[in-house]
Amino acid sequence: MLKQPVNRALFDEVMVPNYNPQQMVPVRGRGSRVWDQEDNEYIDFAGGIAVNALGHVHPALVAALKEQSDKLWHLSNTFTNEPALRLAKKLTDATFADKVFFCNSGAEANEAAFKLARKYSYDNFGPEKHEIIAFYQGFHGRTLFTVSVGGQAKYREGFEPAPGGISHVPFNDLAALKAAISDKTCAVVMEPIQGEGGVIPADPEFVKGVRELCDQHNALLVFDEIQTGVGRTGHLYAYMGMGVEPDILTSAKALGGGFPIGAMLTTNKVAPSFGFGTHGSTYGGNPLACAVAETALDLINQPELLNGVADKRALFVEELQKINAKHEIFKEIRGDGLLIGVELIDTMHGKAASFLATAREEGLMILMAGPNVLRMAPSLIIPDEDIRDGMALLERAIIKVLMAENA
Ligand SMILES: Cc1ncc(COP(=O)(O)O)c(C=O)c1O
Repeated sequence: MLKQPVNRALFDEVMVPNYNPQQMVPVRGRGSRVWDQEDNEYIDFAGGIAVNALGHVHPALVAALKEQSDKLWHLSNTFTNEPALRLAKKLTDATFADKVFFCNSGAEANEAAFKLARKYSYDNFGPEKHEIIAFYQGFHGRTLFTVSVGGQAKYREGFEPAPGGISHVPFNDLAALKAAISDKTCAVVMEPIQGEGGVIPADPEFVKGVRELCDQHNALLVFDEIQTGVGRTGHLYAYMGMGVEPDILTSAKALGGGFPIGAMLTTNKVAPSFGFGTHGSTYGGNPLACAVAETALDLINQPELLNGVADKRALFVEELQKINAKHEIFKEIRGDGLLIGVELIDTMHGKAASFLATAREEGLMILMAGPNVLRMAPSLIIPDEDIRDGMALLERAIIKVLMAENA
């Protein structure tokens, strides 16, 4: 046993300061409720940043993990394993993809996607065709390649030199992409809804236009569905509601329902460029992760659950509108399904962090998407009662912040 208390103060003592977690320490969760060390209860609208799509400690996920943990934990990719094969088969059956590469996180899935796009173009068109075009405000992870493809300079600053051959254009601006794309472009990378960048959906016409431009220039279209995937928008993947298919899709977050796993999905046309020995990961396709993800996918990829997402969203929006009718604090409610962005009015811009901290004091977990936007990415099966109770807490937090502002 440790001789000193295990609390938030210990974080500052022993952890690298790249995070600044909230002041309480959560110790257990169930469904969409979480409790801290003092047994204070919280309603969870954050969902571990769009990860806990089935809430906390879902009994079927617990059972899958327990069952697999009695069988086999790890082998490395020198051997394959049954859970990985089953999960890959289910993912390819359910999507545009023919082939899957497993890894452990979103950034790793994107790293694989960007490397594969480069390698495919190298193999088929030569080394000149290596340029990647992505979008301002896009977010693709925190490795050096992914912060470089990401469209927010602040995540790159101080870590340069960054990998080259990457440019950015404004999101939802087809003319800008048309001006930038060329036969040297190997891939265009986008999120169907920019998550971290402020919960900004791609316009349907824009997405179609991007696909056409990619086809004209033999460039691959990479959809980063790490935040929008696995039921978040009410489709298994957001592209399914957009009438456009990517060549490569990355998935992570909700794929494991809280157990770390990432996946890169692609077609038979593109996959051969990741031939034997070209890429890898020790843990990728780990049996524990794949067993949990297989169960999560089985539960989420059901019409009832996916259709329910729109109903839950409607309740969220209705409750948010009620709050706004009283307090006139939101400029816009946007997003799709249960990826909800609430932009604060201009005079409250920059204050999202104080709403987040005050909500936590009131017993509600929410997220931000930049300094002006509150973000919610709850469990896809959050009970209606928890939505209503959570909204009452959000209103209390808003009143508290407004009183402090006016004091
Ligand atoms: C769209 C998108 N891509 C990539 C990532 C990176 O995923 P991870 O943190 O698992 O590396 C995130 C994480 O927030 C994301 O939202």
